Amino acid sequence: MEGITVKWLLCLYLSIYLTLNFVSSTYNPGSKKTYIVHVDVSSIPPAFTHHIDWYSSLLKSVAAVSPQEIDEEEEQSVVMYTYQSSFHGMAVRLTQEEAEKLESQNGVVGVLPEVKYKLHTTRSPLFLGLEPQDTTSVWSEKLADHDVVVGVLDTGIWPESPSFNDTGFTAVPAHWKGACEVGRGFQKHHCNKKIVGARSFYRGYEAAAGRINEEREHKSARDEDGHGTHTAATVAGSPVHGANLLGYAYGTARGMSPGARIAVYKVCWKGGCFSSDILAAVDAAVEDGVNVMSISLGGGVSSYHRDSLSIAAFGAMEKGVFISCSAGNGGPDPVSLTNVSPWITTVGASTMDRDFPGSVKLGSGVTLKGVSLYKGRRNLSPKLMYPLVYTGANSSSPDPGSLCLEGTLDPHTVSGKIVICDRGISPRVQKGEVVKQAGGVGMILSNTAANGEELVADCHLLPAVAVGEKEGKTIKQYAMRGRHPTGNLAFYGTKLGIRPSPVVAAFSSRGPNFISLEIMKPDLVAPGVNILAAWTGDTGPSSLETDQRRVGFNILSGTSMSCPHVSGVAALLKARHPEWSPAAIKSALMTTAYIHDNNHKPLIDSSTGGPSGPYDHGAGHINPVRAVDPGLIYDIGAQNYFDFLCTQGLTQTQLVVFAKFSNRTCRHTLSGPSDLNYPAISVVFPEDKRVSAVKIHRTVTNVGPPSSNYHVVISQFKGVDVKVEPSVLTFSKTYQKLSYEVTLTTKVRQTAPESGALIWKDGVHRVRSPVVITWLSPI
Ligand SMILES: *[C@@H]1O[C@H](CO)[C@@H](O)[C@H](O)[C@H]1NC(C)=O
Ligand SMILES: *[C@@H]1O[C@H](CO)[C@@H](O)[C@H](O)[C@H]1NC(C)=O
Ligand SMILES: *[C@@H]1O[C@H](CO)[C@@H](O)[C@H](O)[C@H]1NC(C)=O
Repeated sequence: MEGITVKWLLCLYLSIYLTLNFVSSTYNPGSKKTYIVHVDVSSIPPAFTHHIDWYSSLLKSVAAVSPQEIDEEEEQSVVMYTYQSSFHGMAVRLTQEEAEKLESQNGVVGVLPEVKYKLHTTRSPLFLGLEPQDTTSVWSEKLADHDVVVGVLDTGIWPESPSFNDTGFTAVPAHWKGACEVGRGFQKHHCNKKIVGARSFYRGYEAAAGRINEEREHKSARDEDGHGTHTAATVAGSPVHGANLLGYAYGTARGMSPGARIAVYKVCWKGGCFSSDILAAVDAAVEDGVNVMSISLGGGVSSYHRDSLSIAAFGAMEKGVFISCSAGNGGPDPVSLTNVSPWITTVGASTMDRDFPGSVKLGSGVTLKGVSLYKGRRNLSPKLMYPLVYTGANSSSPDPGSLCLEGTLDPHTVSGKIVICDRGISPRVQKGEVVKQAGGVGMILSNTAANGEELVADCHLLPAVAVGEKEGKTIKQYAMRGRHPTGNLAFYGTKLGIRPSPVVAAFSSRGPNFISLEIMKPDLVAPGVNILAAWTGDTGPSSLETDQRRVGFNILSGTSMSCPHVSGVAALLKARHPEWSPAAIKSALMTTAYIHDNNHKPLIDSSTGGPSGPYDHGAGHINPVRAVDPGLIYDIGAQNYFDFLCTQGLTQTQLVVFAKFSNRTCRHTLSGPSDLNYPAISVVFPEDKRVSAVKIHRTVTNVGPPSSNYHVVISQFKGVDVKVEPSVLTFSKTYQKLSYEVTLTTKVRQTAPESGALIWKDGVHRVRSPVVITWLSPI
């Protein structure tokens, strides 16, 4: 008796101990965590000949133990990375107390805790869908070989995919200094003239999550997840004829820039992606000589100077690297963006004109439309009707039973039936797995109010059709009221020419930019729903562990998919215009973007069914063919971006974080943040009603014919009068710069932001900047 009690107590003690121990990694001031330390190397004391010596002296000075106790070996285990290409600093393991002490040391400009980033495809909640190609294929063919290298920071690569076939490629560009790191499952021969580099970064991951279990995970650039293979192939996959997912989306798969080279930086692992690893990859990529970086990841951000990725991206931009990042899948909630720094291109997601229709036929005779990517042996007989069951209590609001969560379905109730499951909480493909395991023969996945009518097709393990909220309600009401409700599912393969398209995806994160309203974000939208691209050989298309299927291509959705479209198009622009700065490339993409769908109506927001605005679609949908010849560009140099930061109320120390390679100082050239030469215009009228007029300036560079004549066209606004001076720009040379001034005068203060556009036209080019005007209401 006593023995049992003791055992029980011991057990209780152990579980409490383990729980506390786990939590303590965050809260115990004595435990070490990873910090990213940003330093100002210009304040390196003369006593040190090398900054590494200075770093170790800094660390010794804050160590809780006396300096004598730190031997060489221990020190190495404390410093995980030193950074020098995109910024100066290191990743170190410190206690909170040490971190605080270090922050106050001379020359230390920031000590930021490690941040965990997420891939922007909801991995198991896979948004599934369509593919890239269309518009660019004609002209990308002509640029077959070029020297642009795109760094892809992701889960690695599956090098055997035919998308990375290098047949016909010329030698690796001479400027490339990267490496092909060998590790488990990744050998030297896995790099070729297409995959020119492969590295992996895991010190931050191992410090946070423990040593990598090499049985489960390749400690190399090999991709067991699939996400990195998919994004890399979307950027620069070689053409593959007859690509498809179980017969769906059949056609030629190719990246946006099939001639570009891929450099793989594996920074995401089964346990997540950690900022110290991401920064080490950005640093290495800059050093290796990438021209474009594609980062389909995001983490929480509260300011430009506390966000390590933003700081590293600034350094990369200074070295001429174009960086595109996913905007996030936090939509349709407003202010849900990540990666909002002006020197980053922030990409939202939209649909394409392809769909995978399916339907639900009810015993009542009604047939409702949905989507599906199901293909398999467990087909339902088209001649039969199957019993239908909805285990929820209420057709208009989901409850635990209706969500088909693990362990909620009773085989007695669902066996042999088609089960209706509400979307939400658990991954969509997992609901299918739960239904299948409980003996269900099919699934109808119903949207709820949270998703409305936006449909994403998934590669379910059993016959399944996804339906919108309206259709779902009809089906659920029938299933709850009918005496013996029955139904069947049908699948119709791939359908092209869907109208309207593109449509802004409901999940695509929305503006405004919470750090500065004056920098309009997102910048653009690009295809991010139902994208077909190469996949790993290690994981099935649903990403479920029980999925034994293996496919060469998979269909995914997310801003993770739209970001590499922009990275690939940026690589094409870089190949065509090697002299263009990252800001010039972004300007070309933004000012040529379109805001109308294939019905010639304004782009629709899938979450409302109504027109979308600049906080949803940014400057609009990318238009690669026009971006090659934009006519004019809004260029921005590193010092201009720094001058923008000078308008953001940062302290001298916070500013130094961005000035590490030069002695940048504020030149005070901008009248305010709206004055940055951004290709979009966002003006904010302060609470103070006496400020009724705001002036901003822009400078355009002529990249069209030497002799060009542009005139301005501006939308009408209810709240302001807009005057542009001069209203005609006459260029006589290529690369000539001309400036103009925009004066906005409030007529009637509006409660909601007003949007429109400012367009320069020369009869051939149409250089469009979105305009947003916000009046802050007096508190
Ligand atoms: C690569 O492409 C070439 C030309 O299309 C083809 O002959 C070759 O078999 C491909 N190699 C692989 C490994 O798929
Ligand atoms: C069903 O849910 C809706 C919305 O939450 C609610 O208004 C309604 O009263 C519920 N009906 C029942 C029968 O519970
Ligand atoms: C920074 O300033 C110092 C002294 O003014 C000068 O010697 C150095 O060359 C400058 N560095 C850069 C990168 O401009």
